[in-house]
Amino acid sequence: MKLDPNKSPAPQEPEPTTGSAPAPVWLFVLVALLAFWGMGFLDSHGGGFDARVYAPYNSAKEVEDEWPKSGAGAAFARGELVYREVARCILCHQPTGLGSPGQQYPPLAKSEWVLAREPGRVIRIVLNGLQGPITVTGQQFNSNGMVPWRDTLTDQQIADVLTYIRSEWGNNAPEVKPEQVKAIRDKTAGRPGQWLADELLKVLETE
Ligand code: HEC
Repeated sequence: MKLDPNKSPAPQEPEPTTGSAPAPVWLFVLVALLAFWGMGFLDSHGGGFDARVYAPYNSAKEVEDEWPKSGAGAAFARGELVYREVARCILCHQPTGLGSPGQQYPPLAKSEWVLAREPGRVIRIVLNGLQGPITVTGQQFNSNGMVPWRDTLTDQQIADVLTYIRSEWGNNAPEVKPEQVKAIRDKTAGRPGQWLADELLKVLETE
C-alpha cells in the first residue's frame, strides 16, 4: 500500500511512563474506618478473648447465665468445677478421666467403682481415700495416692463431683445427692485412714 504524503499521520497515544502516583486519600480513610469498625466488632463479639465464650455469646457472664440453675445439670456443672480445681481430682485422674497408669493413677472413665449403680463405695473412697492393690477396668493399681477429702469437701461438693464423674467421659450412672454423702459421712465418722479395696468390696453398695 502506498502512503499519501499529504495526509497527516494518525494522532498517537502518549507513551505510558513509569513513576509513582500518590495513593488516593479516600483509600487511607477507608482503611482507617475498617480498622475502627474491626476493633468495635472485636470488642462486642470477641468475648474478651475468653475461650469459654463462643457465638452467639458476647461475654462470660452471658454463658454462665445459660448454665442450668437446678437439677442434675446444675450438679454436673458444679461438680466439674470441683473436679477441675487446682490440685483436686484432675491433678491425678486427668482432664480425660483416664488417670495416669504409669504413676498408678487409675481411670475414672468406665471404672466399675465409679459406675456402680449405688454410690456407697465411691462415696467412701472420696471421704477417706484409698490405698493398696485395686483392679480398675481390668488393670492393677497399687499405691497410697488417693487422698482423703472428708475435711476439705462438703457433702454438697462430694455429691456434685461424684455426679460429674458418673456422667462425664461417656459414663452413665445416676446422680448422687448430698443426703447420701451425709449418711455415709456420719456412719464412717470414727474411721481413721484410707480404705483398702478388699475392705470396700465387703460393704454393700447400698449401705
Ligand atoms: C494425689 C492423686 C489423687 C487425687 C488428687 C485424687 N485421686 Fe482418686 N485415686 C488416686 C489413686 C492413686 C487411686 C488408686 C489408689 C489405690 O491404688 O488403691 C485413686 C482411686 C480413685 C477411685 C477408685 C478407683 C477408680 O479409678 O475408679 C475413685 C472413684 C477416685 N479415685 C476418685 C477421685 C475423686 C472424685 C477425686 C477428687 C475429689 C480424686 N480421686 C482425687 C489418686 C488421686
